[in-house]
Amino acid sequence: MSTKNEKKPFSYKDYYSRIANRTPPSMIRQLLAFTQKEAGIISFAGGLPGYFDTLHIREILDELQKESDEKLKPGLQYGLTGGYLKLVEEEIKLLEKEGIQAERENILNTSGSQQALDIIAKTFLNKDEYVLVPRPTYLGALGAFRQYGPRFVEIESDENGIKPDDLERKIKSFKRMKDLARIKFLYVVPDFNNPTGTTIAKERREEIIEICKKYDVIIIEDSPYKKLRYDGKEEPLFAKLEPDWPGIITLMTFSKIFAPGLRQSFIYCKDTDAVEKFNRIKQNSTLCGSSLDERILAEYLERGFLPTHIENIINDYRPKRDAMLTAMHKYFGGEIEVKKPEGGMFLWPAFPDVDTYKKFPKAIENNVAYVPGRVFYADQKKADKNKARFCFVTETETRIDEGIRRLAEIF
Ligand SMILES: Cc1ncc(COP(=O)(O)O)c(C=O)c1O
Repeated sequence: MSTKNEKKPFSYKDYYSRIANRTPPSMIRQLLAFTQKEAGIISFAGGLPGYFDTLHIREILDELQKESDEKLKPGLQYGLTGGYLKLVEEEIKLLEKEGIQAERENILNTSGSQQALDIIAKTFLNKDEYVLVPRPTYLGALGAFRQYGPRFVEIESDENGIKPDDLERKIKSFKRMKDLARIKFLYVVPDFNNPTGTTIAKERREEIIEICKKYDVIIIEDSPYKKLRYDGKEEPLFAKLEPDWPGIITLMTFSKIFAPGLRQSFIYCKDTDAVEKFNRIKQNSTLCGSSLDERILAEYLERGFLPTHIENIINDYRPKRDAMLTAMHKYFGGEIEVKKPEGGMFLWPAFPDVDTYKKFPKAIENNVAYVPGRVFYADQKKADKNKARFCFVTETETRIDEGIRRLAEIF
């Protein structure tokens, strides 16, 4: 029997910080763990790249191991917080190809754009300040921002990305309330948005920049899929369209065009003071990235392998996108609404009268996985419950057909 003075049992729950308590488990991570355990499952859930240049990566690894300690040792040592200089030089060259003139001081190498999102959130967000996000948007960005306690303002999107008129209307309402300074930034995935696959056209990018400049709202452009274009013409980065305005921060990653396991990516910003702040935040968290992985990527880029590899990825992914679209039409007929994205990794179909979240356990029972649409909305109560994200790049064309067939049986 417990007495009044009896000590409460120890629990870590009494010690967690506000940040820890604001960090719910990521549904995608849980799904991934599950789908990786179950060998028979056909998974359209994770955004897992399906094509790697193992040949050239092995070549570089072999040389690093075999040639001499002098080549290997620096990769085993601590490196610079900003990133291995040769890699940063290669990143400058990549930006140059995008029409952006950068110096070393404009770049911070990060361990995946996910780390970049966390650094940005930590740099700018205080509790109850506002972040403007597309409706819907990348779940991982919502998670990274949410840790710091902001409020989300969702901007309506159509098949061309966020709507400038809704953006301006919502910003103006803050101005009227003299609360503009509490908007910290607008977050966008301009090319082949995760989850919708939509791309913002150049004219709309210009309109968005105009609005953000007018009200001094920082733009975070997060563009992992830009180079995975299967049709149509490439759109310019926001940072290219307005090179003199320092209010744009660009996130680029090698996860989808090289290898996510090596966690290589970078932040570009014209404002060197902001980059220095990002650098200090990163220092406190990891000191530096993986020196070895930075060297592997630098070698890869220096040897000029990337353009051909991107071509190979495109040739692998394009038919997979088409196979998934064909299967969806074949098994769901006119009941499904799905657009053909010009690139990226995802389809975003709408099913009539189906709550994709509620159906999910049944899908897993049938050995097929996707991501229910609601997790991509900052305000899940107002989510489109009949939508879901399907990654088309991981599975083979035969398994894509089989997976969609299995789904049609239970939807
Ligand atoms: C829009 C977007 N941003 C960032 C990331 C994170 O990528 P990384 O592997 O570089 O951390 C992803 C990954 O899927 C993404 O889709």
